[in-house]
Amino acid sequence: MRRKLVAGNWKMHGSLADNDALLTAVLAGMGEVGCDVAVCVPHPYLAQAQARLAGSTVAWGAQNMSQHAKGAYTGEVSAAMLNDFGCRYVIVGHSERRALYGESDQVVAEKYAAAQAAGLAPILCVGETLNEREECITEQVVGRQLDAVIEKCGVASLAKAVIAYEPVWAIGTGVTATPDQAQAVHAFIRGKIRALDAAVADNLVIQYGGSVKGSNAAELFAQPDIDGGLIGGASLVAEDFLAICKAG
Ligand code: PGA
Repeated sequence: MRRKLVAGNWKMHGSLADNDALLTAVLAGMGEVGCDVAVCVPHPYLAQAQARLAGSTVAWGAQNMSQHAKGAYTGEVSAAMLNDFGCRYVIVGHSERRALYGESDQVVAEKYAAAQAAGLAPILCVGETLNEREECITEQVVGRQLDAVIEKCGVASLAKAVIAYEPVWAIGTGVTATPDQAQAVHAFIRGKIRALDAAVADNLVIQYGGSVKGSNAAELFAQPDIDGGLIGGASLVAEDFLAICKAG
């Protein structure tokens, strides 16, 4: 039986004071939560997350990292640096990174490999744009994004990773994929991996992301192949995030 994972993606939000209040409130509500929970915070707040969450049931991680181990890469952050702050997870290939920072499938695969080499669990984001959905090429796009990682690291690597299916048209828009729409893509992802390795597929956590709220989380998470969510906007409000965690 797979455990669900609800992970917050704070994106470029927060301050020391706001984070402190948010984490205090989230920790206070964890007693009623039955799934795994994590928060992926901006790099400058990793020390704060570690200090506040160490020893609790909430894990923490980052939202991006370099594919390189070290060197002349001004402004970049390595996997080893994330390890120094006790991260369990790192998001790789978020659609904002792909669209705004030009991260190709190849670069995302390199980041995924570098994260795993350092013992971090990558949360690999995949998903189609609205145009791609309308052109009925969702499965081709998601399949291509997965293939880049499988070709580089092998299907067995997915035993130590999480996949987040995030349709780009649903991120931050308030337009959530219907449970049926999301389930169909999740089933495609699991089926594709099952064809390569059934045990890996059965144990793989596949999160849904894109305008998840307290009001729609339970229905999404009830789908057979949806194992929790990657939560943007709603992860910034303790009450909303906890409502989603309780649905997990
Ligand atoms: P959202 O973002 O929940 O605000 O739609 C999800 C994400 O980008 O991970």
